[in-house]
Amino acid sequence: MLRTILTANFIAETAQKREERMENDIIFEPLRFRNLTVKNRIFRSSISGRWDNYDGSGTQARINWEEKFARGGVGAIISSFVPVAIRGRIMPNYATINCDERIPFWRKVGEKVHEYDCKFILQLSHSGRQQDIGGIENLGKKALSSTSKTEPFHGFLCQAMTLTEIKETIQYFADGARRAREAGLDGVELHSANGYLFNQFLSSGINDRQDEYGGSLENRARFLLDVIKAIRKEVGNDFHLQFKISAVDYNNAVTFWEKPGNTIKDSIQVCKWAEEAGADGVHVSTGSLFPHPLNPIGDFNFDIISKTYDAMLSSGVETTRNYILFRKAFLHPIFNLLWNRVKKQLPSQAFSGDDVKDPKIKQLLIENQGRNLLDSKEIKKHVNIPVLCTGGLQQASYIRQAINEHYCDGVTMARTLIANNDLVKSFQAGKDLAEKPCTYCNKCLLNVIENPLGCYEQDRFNSYEEMMEEVMSVFHANQFANSSK
Ligand SMILES: Cc1cc2nc3c(=O)[nH]c(=O)nc-3n(C[C@H](O)[C@H](O)[C@H](O)COP(=O)(O)O)c2cc1C
Ligand code: SF4
Repeated sequence: MLRTILTANFIAETAQKREERMENDIIFEPLRFRNLTVKNRIFRSSISGRWDNYDGSGTQARINWEEKFARGGVGAIISSFVPVAIRGRIMPNYATINCDERIPFWRKVGEKVHEYDCKFILQLSHSGRQQDIGGIENLGKKALSSTSKTEPFHGFLCQAMTLTEIKETIQYFADGARRAREAGLDGVELHSANGYLFNQFLSSGINDRQDEYGGSLENRARFLLDVIKAIRKEVGNDFHLQFKISAVDYNNAVTFWEKPGNTIKDSIQVCKWAEEAGADGVHVSTGSLFPHPLNPIGDFNFDIISKTYDAMLSSGVETTRNYILFRKAFLHPIFNLLWNRVKKQLPSQAFSGDDVKDPKIKQLLIENQGRNLLDSKEIKKHVNIPVLCTGGLQQASYIRQAINEHYCDGVTMARTLIANNDLVKSFQAGKDLAEKPCTYCNKCLLNVIENPLGCYEQDRFNSYEEMMEEVMSVFHANQFANSSK
């Protein structure tokens, strides 16, 4: 009897302590945007995987995938890259938002994550020239971009959009936002970072237009601002709209003969204009290429890329060069030299989280966690809308300090949540770091061209079979059981 009472007291006390801890913990304070309140400060960042049908319709696997993160406690999920036009997809098998027929699918996704009091923000996107696998519908068609200059890393061919094509694309984004709203989703994010179409307009390293969409920063920002204004006209002022920006382009990080592109000063100005035009939040990233040595930061695993890069061979005119670089071990030092060059120029980290015992993990965190925070802080000083920051974040004490010291208002996490879907719940339970943290090995990323998205770092699992079971788990639960509802 006494033992039962003591146990009950202990449980009550632990629950009370947890509540007290959460009450004083900025991570679990709601984040208020103009039109949206998110229950905590942790967002699942966008992560694309080939879950869906070739025609852009969605699947149950995608719903199961998003549900994992909602169940794990994140306040909001930012969807994967969702193309507003078929010509703007990075590769096939991504669910799109290019027609009204897609609305019921996205409604289902939203309803599923809402069951966990988690918000869902759709990332409205267009690849521009950064099209990894064009798909048969784009065979013989060059990708549309701000420029006709071939993309330098893979050699994707493209043509500069005409003014008519620009106007059409602006309307595609406005229609996408309207559909997201009709689907009952909580907002949209414009994917204006990481080398995709918006970034191709914004960047002084890429945009070489002579018309009102090129030249000065004001002209280069016009496409993004026109889209923000068009969305506001289409959906009104009370639907959440945020945008993602590469704070610094580092456009010549790998292909050193390119121009460097936008600086943090340029991006601060773009953020101020975007706020004036009606944006409710900004999401800070880096690099005018994807992937980029700084995004997602970490390893470049030749074992994986040499197996999967063949999927891209027919996509660009430089892919054979890369394929040889990736497959021939004696050439790896050359690629590593280029890929790691820019990391050496970074300033050291502003702070570190609580001490971590494992020396390997400690070192990984020092090198990779929070690499965009200094830029995020600069942007935050100049805007009045909430600022989200992405990049390697996975330690509660570090995230807490970043928010408390005004580097950002919230953080977004991608790989670090793929590795540990329930990280937010474990923060809630008082843990500072997952038992088996994400190692920034990027095996998930380099697999994604060909294989289902998931954590492929076998050292984090007890066996290969256990790892594959986890990767494939989204294909098993509730396979379209209620698809007719
Ligand atoms: C496999 C994979 C797919 C990604 N897809 C997208 C995407 O569709 N849109 C986007 O804005 N960022 C994308 N990212 C970048 C992430 O959203 C995130 O900003 C980046 O990985 C840094 O966060 P992390 O260190 O927590 O992974 C992707 C990252 C990975 C690893
Ligand atoms: S494969 Fe796993 S451990 Fe490696 S970066 Fe991706 S999520 Fe992290």
